[in-house]
Amino acid sequence: MSKEVFLDIGAGFGERFIRRARENPDQKFLVVESSGPSLEPLPENLEWLVEAIEEENQLSIEDNFVDEVNLDFILSTLYADDKETLIPEALTESMRVLKEGGSFFIREPKYMLELLEPVLREQSLDFSVEPIPKQEIEQQSLGVQEAYLEFKNGKVEMEPYLIRVKTD
Ligand SMILES: C[S@@+](CC[C@H](N)C(=O)[O-])C[C@H]1O[C@@H](n2cnc3c(N)ncnc32)[C@H](O)[C@@H]1O
Repeated sequence: MSKEVFLDIGAGFGERFIRRARENPDQKFLVVESSGPSLEPLPENLEWLVEAIEEENQLSIEDNFVDEVNLDFILSTLYADDKETLIPEALTESMRVLKEGGSFFIREPKYMLELLEPVLREQSLDFSVEPIPKQEIEQQSLGVQEAYLEFKNGKVEMEPYLIRVKTD
């Protein structure tokens, strides 16, 4: 069986993928992050690409290459940075690099759903939306964990949600 490839775009410190890569040495992990890695050393099965989602510029990953794409709290960052025109770009790039039938996960706080759902529909993407269960929070990225703490402290709009984009 060919090795599975997992991708995290806008990974931040990349701690979740570094952990997954150590736990799964037979799988390949790719990180796309506009800044370089700050946690070293990286596991051998993790490749860190210092690249960014940009207008009219593809990532250096070939089409139909990865089995799973994760966008964790990068879309809200683009929105906060007044770069929301890059949100469709991030979705298009994710779909381009995904193998047919692969998994596409977006994690964002609840307040982003209202903004993201129309963008996903404009791109003719079918998806489902659910809150991330409490018992799964510990395995998530720092961004998801921090949002969950804010939610627990009363900021209902920060409840972390999972959007599963259907790819087949
Ligand atoms: C809020 S952090 C989330 C980090 C991590 N995914 C998490 O959930 O903890 C957003 C990340 O997206 C990265 N980022 C921002 N714009 C980007 C772009 N255009 N392309 C790739 N990464 C970007 C930032 O450098 C930052 O590390």
